Amino acid sequence: MNPDFSTQVRQDLDRLVPLLEARLLKALHDGEAPRVGEAMRYSLEAGGKRVRPVLCLLAAEALGSPPEIALACATALEYIHTYSLIHDDLPAMDDDALRRGKPTCHVAFGEGQAILAGDGLLTEAFTVLLGDETLPADRRLLAARILAEAAGWHGMVGGQSLDLAGEERTRSGQAYALEHLQLIHRLKTGALLRAALELGGVAAGASQEQRARLREAGAALGLAFQIQDDILDATSTAEQMGKRVGKDEGQGKITYPLLLGLDGARTALQEATARAIEHLQSLPHPCSLMAWARFLAERKA
Ligand code: IPE
Ligand code: IPE
Ligand code: MG
Ligand code: MG
Ligand code: MG
Repeated sequence: MNPDFSTQVRQDLDRLVPLLEARLLKALHDGEAPRVGEAMRYSLEAGGKRVRPVLCLLAAEALGSPPEIALACATALEYIHTYSLIHDDLPAMDDDALRRGKPTCHVAFGEGQAILAGDGLLTEAFTVLLGDETLPADRRLLAARILAEAAGWHGMVGGQSLDLAGEERTRSGQAYALEHLQLIHRLKTGALLRAALELGGVAAGASQEQRARLREAGAALGLAFQIQDDILDATSTAEQMGKRVGKDEGQGKITYPLLLGLDGARTALQEATARAIEHLQSLPHPCSLMAWARFLAERKA
C-alpha cells in the first residue's frame, strides 16, 4: 500500500476515533430496560472500522470546519449502521453467528432482544441528531431528513429487501443483470455512505455545489465499499474480517465476483474509487478524504 495514504488514514483514525468513541456510548447509559441497552452497547462496543462516522467527520473538515461540528451526525450514522448489521445477521436474513469478532447480537441476547436492539439504535440515532444543540436547527432538520431517506425504503432497507429477493431469484435459476446488482449495492450500502459524506457537509454548512460533490463522491465510495466487501467475502478469512466469509455463494447472493469474476470486480472497484476521487478533488481540503478513498479500495478487513 502506498505509505502516503495509509499514514494519512492512520493519523485520522488516531485523532478522530477517540472523539467518536466517547460520544458513541454517552447517549446509551442505563435506561429503564437494561437488557436491550446492554445488547445495543454490546454490538457498538464490539468495534467495527467506524468508516461511516469517520468519513462524516472528514467531510466536515474537507469544508474547513472542526470535526466536532459533525459528531452528532457521525454518532447517528454509526448507530444506524450497527442496527443494520444486527438485523442483517438475524436468522431470517443472513443468519450469521460472528460479527465484529464476537458472537452476533441475537446469539448473545436472543432474537427478540436483538431485533429490539436494532430498533433502539435506529431511533436513538434520531434522538441524538435532533437533540444536538450545537448544530443550528435548520441543519439538524436537513441532516435528519437525509439520514432517514438513506436508511429507509429508498436506501438501506430497500436494498436489503432487494438483496433477500435476489436470493430467491437465484434459487429459481433466474439470470441477473449487472444493473440490478448495482441498484442493490447502491441502496443497501451506498446510501448510508453517501449520507455519511453529505451529513458532514450539512453540519459544516456546505453550499449546494459542495453538497452535490459530497453526494456523488459518497455514492461512488459506497458502491466501491460493497464491491470490496463482496471481494473479501470470496478471498479473505474470518480472522481478518471478524465475520464469516465465503457465505455469499452458499446463500445464493449475487455479487460482483459472481457476475464479473474477481478481476472484473477489481476493475469495477478501481473505477468507482476513481470516480469518488474525481468528485472529491474540487473540495477546499480534500486530502484526507482522497486518502480514505484509496485506502478503502485496498482494505483487507
Ligand atoms: C459491513 O460494513 C456491512 C457492509 C455494508 C458491507 P463494515 O465493513 O463497515 O462493518 P464494520 O462496521 O467494520 O463492522
Ligand atoms: C450488508 O451486506 C449490508 C447492510 C445493510 C448491513 P452484507 O450482508 O454483505 O454484509 P456482511 O458481509 O454480512 O457484513
Ligand atoms: Mg446481507
Ligand atoms: Mg450479511
Ligand atoms: Mg458481505
